[in-house]
Amino acid sequence: MATQLLKGKKGLIFGALNEQSIAWKVAERAVEEGAEIVLTNTAVSIRMGTIGKLAEKCNTIVVPADATSVADLENLIDKTMEHFGGKFDFMLHSIGMSPNVRKGVPYESLNYDYLSKTLDISAISFHKAMQVARAKDAINDWGSIVALSYQAAQRTVCEYGDMADAKALLESIARSFGYILGREKKIRVNTVSQSPTLTTAGSGVAGLADLLGYAERMSPLGNASAEDCADYILTLFSDYTRKVTMQNLFHDGGFSSTGISNEIIDIYFKGTADERE
Ligand SMILES: NC(=O)c1ccc[n+]([C@@H]2O[C@H](COP(=O)([O-])OP(=O)(O)OC[C@H]3O[C@@H](n4cnc5c(N)ncnc54)[C@H](O)[C@@H]3O)[C@@H](O)[C@H]2O)c1
Repeated sequence: MATQLLKGKKGLIFGALNEQSIAWKVAERAVEEGAEIVLTNTAVSIRMGTIGKLAEKCNTIVVPADATSVADLENLIDKTMEHFGGKFDFMLHSIGMSPNVRKGVPYESLNYDYLSKTLDISAISFHKAMQVARAKDAINDWGSIVALSYQAAQRTVCEYGDMADAKALLESIARSFGYILGREKKIRVNTVSQSPTLTTAGSGVAGLADLLGYAERMSPLGNASAEDCADYILTLFSDYTRKVTMQNLFHDGGFSSTGISNEIIDIYFKGTADERE
């Protein structure tokens, strides 16, 4: 159902690792909608994943960059502008990693070196990418920048560990930098808070299958898939959302506004029907 929503727009997409990645779906859909893109990921992820296949499909280049390295980001923005022959219109930050979560370190005994890495990779890299893009005046007026978040930034989710702190910081950075870029260049900055989704990063959270099932039963519209997420993000890159900025936008089938659902009550009381009114 491509409508050329992004015809004439150019963008930089961080975080496509493999076909499950949310960034992969955004890249595919953005190109279907008429955009030109540049892809980036770490050198290791480029080697381990399948981003080359995506680049071929999207007729573009992949520039290696560790998003925690300002030098890498400077090179990335230069290469991206070279590729496009000038400025671009949108940027997607779809990056997350916690060594504490990956190694099963519980929140009450965090390894602080790992915590620094979690925050740097999953949140501060968003600040770094915007700071470098701003310094190089890389993004057109009325451009759009989006990062992926999760509702553990607002409400505790067991097993999400220090990623919750990283997401809270990420959302705050979106507001703080959104003010500056909005005032200076009318560039908007938002985070999209996505349903749990079966991806490599998602699978790092213990009990993801249970979380998916719970969220599915709690959400009146059901969980939002990676494809649904891509479609939503395209609207934020389009000219139809030019006055939306500094927001954390829930894309979760209604989960975040639901206190309790019939389906969850049914499961909770299964076998104890007599106790129910
Ligand atoms: N999967 C979910 O359940 C879910 C839910 C809500 C939000 N999110 C968020 O969506 C985003 C994308 O994750 P995903 O689910 O598509 O998983 P994914 O594993 O496909 O993507 C994570 C990406 O981060 C990249 N990355 C890690 N360290 C990096 C670094 N130093 N520099 C540059 N890139 C780096 C990885 O290479 C990978 O491509 C993340 O921010 C994640 O927290 C995911």
